[in-house]
Amino acid sequence: MQVGPFAKESRVFVKIGETRERNYQSGFMYDCMRQLKMPNVKTYVVAVIWDETQWKKHSEANVTPKTNTWSNSMLVKMRAKALKYVKMNLHMSMQVCELFKGIRIGWVKELHPKIIIEILQNPIKRNTFGKTLFEMIFFAVYAGVIDSGPFNSMLNSDGQVLLVDINIGDESAMLVYNTKGLYRASKKFDEKHISAVISYVNTHFAEAADFLARLKESACKNPYLLLDSMCPFFNDDNVELLRSGQKTSPYFKFLTASLLFNPCGKGASPPSFEATRAVFTIPMLLLCSGTSRDNIDYPGPPLTSKVPVVPRKVMCIVHLKAKTHDRITLRNQGGKELGDHTKHFLAFSAI
Ligand SMILES: Nc1ncnc2c1ncn2[C@@H]1O[C@H](COP(=O)(O)OP(=O)(O)O)[C@@H](O)[C@H]1O
Ligand SMILES: [Mg+2]
Repeated sequence: MQVGPFAKESRVFVKIGETRERNYQSGFMYDCMRQLKMPNVKTYVVAVIWDETQWKKHSEANVTPKTNTWSNSMLVKMRAKALKYVKMNLHMSMQVCELFKGIRIGWVKELHPKIIIEILQNPIKRNTFGKTLFEMIFFAVYAGVIDSGPFNSMLNSDGQVLLVDINIGDESAMLVYNTKGLYRASKKFDEKHISAVISYVNTHFAEAADFLARLKESACKNPYLLLDSMCPFFNDDNVELLRSGQKTSPYFKFLTASLLFNPCGKGASPPSFEATRAVFTIPMLLLCSGTSRDNIDYPGPPLTSKVPVVPRKVMCIVHLKAKTHDRITLRNQGGKELGDHTKHFLAFSAI
C-alpha cells in the first residue's frame, strides 16, 4: 500500500506511540532542514491501531544485544499506552520516515570503527562530517531540540549527519536549555568528532556563517530561545565576524571554546561570552598623538586611566575591554574628536 510519499513495499522507519502533535512538529523540522539543504528524511503521519503480536514479532526480528533490554521495557510501556488509547476510543499516531542508511553516532566507534576511521581520514568525508555536524548542532540550538546528542544523530558512510528523534523544548525545558550553550544532551560527542567540526569552522567560516544566516531566516526558531550572552551565536555582528574568519577575535575564540565545551551529565553550563570576553580582550595598540588630557571613547567599560602622555606619533599600548567591531576614537577634553582608531584595533586584534 502506498503511504503518503512512500511507494508500496519501500523500506521505511516508523515510530508509534508519540503524540500526533510531536509527529507533525518533527515533520515540520525536517521540512526546514530540507530548505536549509541539511541531511533530512521525508515523513508522513498516519493513524494506527497498535497490534502487540506484530510489534513483538518485529521487535524480536530486529533486536540486537544493544537493544535487548530496551525492547522489553518498551513493550510494557506500549501495552499501557495502547490501553489508554483504546479507553479514549482514539487511534494512536504513527510517523513514517524515509529510511536513513546509517548508524547512531554514539555507537559508531564501538560497532563500526572502520566507518568512522575512513570518514575521519578522507578529507572530503571528514569535511562533510564536520559541516553536517556543525549544522545539526546549531539547528538543534536554534530550534530548541531536546536531547540532540550522539544518541539522536546518525551518520552515513559519506560522513553525512542526520538529526533524529526531534522533539521541541517547551517553556520549562527551555528555561534549563537557555543556560546550556551549544550542547544540551545528556551524552557527550566524541572529541574526534568535535575536532572535525572545529576544522570545518576554521576552513569554511564563510560557508558556516552563511548557514547561520539562512537558519535565522527559516521558521524553526524556538519561541523560548534566549539570545543572550550564553547564546551569542546568532547575533548579526557575530555571524559577520565568523564570516570574516578573524580567528583571534574574542568571538571566534569563544565559538571554538564553546564547541570544545562538550560536557556529559547534568548541571554543567559553559561560561557566557560576557564572562570570557575579558579573557579574550586584546591590548589595543594605538598609534596616537594624544596628550594626557585626551580621552579614549568606546562602548566598553570606562578606562581607569586616560591616554598616557605620549610624544607625537609614538605608539602606545592601551588595554581596552573592547569588542572587535567597537568604534574607538580619541577625543580632547572638550569632546572634539582627534582621530578614529577603530581600524588600528581591528588590525591589531587580527594579528
Ligand atoms: N529515519 C530513520 N532511518 C533509520 N534509522 C532511524 C531513523 N530515525 C531513527 N533511526 C534510528 O533509530 C533509533 C531510535 O529512534 P529514535 O527516534 O531516537 O527513538 P527513541 O524515541 O526511542 O529514542 C535512532 O537512534 C536511530 O539510530
Ligand atoms: Mg532517541
